[in-house]
Amino acid sequence: MRLDKYLSHTGQGTRNQVRHLIKQGVVEVDGIVCKQAARHITNEVVSVYGERLKYEPFLYYMMHKPKGILSASKDAKLPTAIDLLQGVNPLPVHVVGRLDIDSTGLLLLTNNGALAHKIISPKTKYPKHYHVSVREPLTPAQINRLETGVELDGIMTKPCQVRAIDGLTYEVILIEGRYHQIKKMMHAVANEVTALHRTRIGPLVLDDALLPREYRALTEEEVLQLQTFHDA
Ligand code: URA
Repeated sequence: MRLDKYLSHTGQGTRNQVRHLIKQGVVEVDGIVCKQAARHITNEVVSVYGERLKYEPFLYYMMHKPKGILSASKDAKLPTAIDLLQGVNPLPVHVVGRLDIDSTGLLLLTNNGALAHKIISPKTKYPKHYHVSVREPLTPAQINRLETGVELDGIMTKPCQVRAIDGLTYEVILIEGRYHQIKKMMHAVANEVTALHRTRIGPLVLDDALLPREYRALTEEEVLQLQTFHDA
């Protein structure tokens, strides 16, 4: 594997950031400064600022979560998203941003903790897109309340977007992920969620070729888009 890719895979930054490190002369291969991003690495010892790197490749999957599967790692009674991956994946990946057991749609799973943290944090404003079906159509006044913020457990929700898709289904775009957030928001305007499906996390869109329970590894392009996403 190329040195720049190796550095990126060990969490040293995006391809551009690691090339900058290499140019700076802070990257050593077997104890010797290496300034060639294309240098081929197999079993050599690579260090950055004198710190030896441990090569544990990052893994990224998207899954089409069905109903009835928990988006936790382990559960004594119920099957989890991680159980669906088992046997395939020797490294511990975790779910990024949970979905309720009765919600469906896009789950992101990775062992890249720094990226997971970035995606979950409301500060970085990765929008999470949901298709939400409700018991009764929302009035313009209710949509306005939801979009500007409702009080949940004493704290206002952050501004969000709500757009009608058809009679009882709306697209809701949130930049935060509080516990049962959309269900509680709909309760706050005297309505009720009847189905909730996540279609997108930031730039990552659920692949419509994936049936419920199916998953696939992200492409390099999708990983790069997630890593370099900035609020527009
Ligand atoms: N909001 C909810 O209430 N449930 C989910 O699963 C996701 C967002």
